[in-house]
Amino acid sequence: MEILETIRKRKSIRDFKPDPVPRELLEEILTLSVRAPSGVNKQPWEFAILSGPVLEKVKQENVAHFHSGQKSHASFGSGIDRVSVYRTRQVNLAIELFRLMGIAREDKEKRTQWTERGFYYFNAPVAIILLTDEALPLQRVLLDVGAVMQTICLTALAYGLGTCIEGQGVMFPEVLREYGDIPKNKQIITAIAIGYPNWSFPANKIETPREPIENITFWRGFD
Ligand SMILES: Cc1cc2nc3c(=O)[nH]c(=O)nc-3n(C[C@H](O)[C@H](O)[C@H](O)COP(=O)(O)O)c2cc1C
Repeated sequence: MEILETIRKRKSIRDFKPDPVPRELLEEILTLSVRAPSGVNKQPWEFAILSGPVLEKVKQENVAHFHSGQKSHASFGSGIDRVSVYRTRQVNLAIELFRLMGIAREDKEKRTQWTERGFYYFNAPVAIILLTDEALPLQRVLLDVGAVMQTICLTALAYGLGTCIEGQGVMFPEVLREYGDIPKNKQIITAIAIGYPNWSFPANKIETPREPIENITFWRGFD
């Protein structure tokens, strides 16, 4: 797929076919993706690639932790509490996903089921967990890891795979450490659910809007 088309077409996929993704293909995607830039070429990223029975156990334990009311021990969250344009965008995303899924605001059961989907990586056959060494302050590595994260999503799409970057997928890092055998000296940053998209799933029809460039750009010296 041509690069501009890939950038245009990438979007978050929230249901996958059960078809496995060959390890060789994942290796190819990662090999290309680590061409991403990083400050002083420090390449602070590491990956845990979970599939098969390991991922199955992680999915089950994520859901069990959620239902037992466990608090999240994630390194950081991506939610926004205060009323702001950012909060409005977050709410609009939820409204659109629930509209596509036919989930009514007051339907607690379906909302819970939706939350559970996130904890089992939207049925993805593979979850890529992005890690960085504990020696590196998060503040210094997040730009780099963000670059490799987006490159993974674009490369995956070029190979016909869908992705969803998922903060929710690392809400219970202790589950990933135990069942994904992630070393103690690695910080867990985020997850990417990856697999072949199930295009008949309603939420996969989402087209998220973007703020027009003129509203977010300060042009200087062009007149
Ligand atoms: C850091 C980060 C964390 C995210 N976490 C989640 C998540 O936990 N659950 C989810 O459904 N989508 C998650 N997303 C996907 C965003 O909701 C999505 O990128 C955004 O709504 C724009 O939509 P698009 O990716 O379809 O263009 C995350 C994206 C990023 C970059």
